[in-house]
Amino acid sequence: AASVEVDISSVTEGMSLTVKWRGKPIFIRNRTPKEVGDAKDTALSALKDPIARNANLASDAQATDLARSAGEGKENWLIMIGICTHLGCIPLGESGEFGGWFCPCHGSTYDTAGRIRSGPAPENMFIPPYAFLSDTQIKIG
Ligand code: FES
Repeated sequence: AASVEVDISSVTEGMSLTVKWRGKPIFIRNRTPKEVGDAKDTALSALKDPIARNANLASDAQATDLARSAGEGKENWLIMIGICTHLGCIPLGESGEFGGWFCPCHGSTYDTAGRIRSGPAPENMFIPPYAFLSDTQIKIG
């Protein structure tokens, strides 16, 4: 299976990088403390999709911010497939009512953890399989 290695050393706090994996855009975001805090402060009961959709976790893991992020100590990193779960458009970053992503096709909005919050999309944006090879190198797939 094709995997890609990405150097994330240039992705400083508040910055994002988009790479391709299996023909799909992968959003790699180094979230600010405010973005992480906003997502943590969101009750699971407020979520439209309560499942983490994280290929690295159990399929029924809940969509906490920690479960959406790269995990303990790396919660600033959000790495996800940048495809709207409605009909597959590519959402725009740092946009929308919840400060995350906005899909221009039919108006779905995602929060700072990439979780669907309003609009027609049914599910959170998916988290691909990935691993940190070092603090500055990740392998996707
Ligand atoms: Fe994103 Fe329809 S494809 S809202």
